[in-house]
Amino acid sequence: MVKSTYEELEHEISILEQRISHISPLEKELKSLEAKFSLVEKQLRQRQRMDSLGTLAQGVAHDFNNILSGIMAYLNILSLTNDNFSPSQKTYIQNIINSVKRGAATVKQFQNLSSRAASPKENIDIYSVAEEVFFLLEKTTDKLLEKQLDIEKGRVFVCADINEMHQVFMNLATNAVHAIEAKGLKKGDYIRLSAKPEIRKGSELKHLSDGEYYEFLFEDTGSGMPVEVLEKAFDPLFTTKTGPENNGQGLGLAMVKDIVTKRHDGHIEVDSIPGRGTIFHIFLPRAADACGLEEPPTDIQGGSETVLVVDDDISVRESLKSALEDFGYRIILAGDGEEGLALFRENVDVVNIVLLDMIMPKMPGRELLREMLKIDPDVRVIISSGHDKNHFEDPIIKSAKNYLKKPFEIMALEKAIRQVLDQKRCPV
Ligand SMILES: Nc1ncnc2c1ncn2[C@@H]1O[C@H](COP(=O)(O)OP(=O)(O)OP(=O)(O)O)[C@@H](O)[C@H]1O
Ligand SMILES: [Mg+2]
Repeated sequence: MVKSTYEELEHEISILEQRISHISPLEKELKSLEAKFSLVEKQLRQRQRMDSLGTLAQGVAHDFNNILSGIMAYLNILSLTNDNFSPSQKTYIQNIINSVKRGAATVKQFQNLSSRAASPKENIDIYSVAEEVFFLLEKTTDKLLEKQLDIEKGRVFVCADINEMHQVFMNLATNAVHAIEAKGLKKGDYIRLSAKPEIRKGSELKHLSDGEYYEFLFEDTGSGMPVEVLEKAFDPLFTTKTGPENNGQGLGLAMVKDIVTKRHDGHIEVDSIPGRGTIFHIFLPRAADACGLEEPPTDIQGGSETVLVVDDDISVRESLKSALEDFGYRIILAGDGEEGLALFRENVDVVNIVLLDMIMPKMPGRELLREMLKIDPDVRVIISSGHDKNHFEDPIIKSAKNYLKKPFEIMALEKAIRQVLDQKRCPV
């Protein structure tokens, strides 16, 4: 009797043990699901925070662009009346204009980051991007570390998004500095960017479609990478920087690769020797026309036509008024879309051209343009906006005769006004 109870008990225990053996992997799975869930939750919260920061960034970028537009317009007025200035004062004015342009480029970067919209590719002089990165390196790293930019100004042009190229070089430079610091900075250490002067054909490079490419070499004499790191270096979230002082996210090279290969149809590879250093080879398509960069026009034709300027920023309105009146034009100002529409209706017979801002309170530029087209289907409009043209995929906006990205040079505006006004109107 006792035996049978004992056996029964043993049997039950073995059944229970079997069940437990099923539960424990389930428990593990549950734990890992919980961990994944909390990670996703964290990412979602982070995403929401990024979204609201993005909206804020867009607003700040818009206002800041308008401020820059006002400054640019007044500087242009000064530079056009520069007979009264000494040569050094003229240089100062030009330097401020250059600073405003850099400010505008930073705002653009901000807009791109927060909207994740890519800016259009253009013919860029790689030197101008690299110079900025090397300037930053010079200011932020030890003098002992040599910074060598072996690319000449005006020699190497690629067809690229200038902000993304900036991100590429910034990431490579940051990694290079970390690698040199990790090894311990000593005399003779350097970071170098050079370009292979000869142009390679895509077919020679095997993995690239046919066309002509430049090869850029980004070198450092840092710690280098062992094979197991080298194999994973471009993987998203792979990082060896886990210390409290240098905490990496493992996103830098993944982003660099994405920009080079997906956004620019290029190629990137890396050679590295532990203890000796690293060389990144970047292949980018050569720009079709190396001299296609447009200089702003310097001559002003002027005119006596009437321009309706609609912009919600007072400094933009006032500065454009002063400049355009100096060139002989008659100016009507409106501070928002509704006022613009009322003034257009009132003056439809005298307004020859409209300069139209896009983002405005009450009635945005697009709505105003639609209303004006109802009144005069041939209305001549130049859009001025802080966004790139490709931001607005819209037939109404495309009906505008020209598009200027803020902040623009007054001379470019005047040239655009003349071009539009001098085009013959379509016969009705
Ligand atoms: N120039 C280099 N020299 C030595 N190791 C490098 C170099 N560049 C990258 N690495 C290695 O590749 C890893 C991945 O680089 P990546 O730039 O993607 O991420 P990270 O620098 O660790 O973090 P993040 O760039 O997101 O701040 C680095 O952690 C490092 O181990
Ligand atoms: Mg990095």
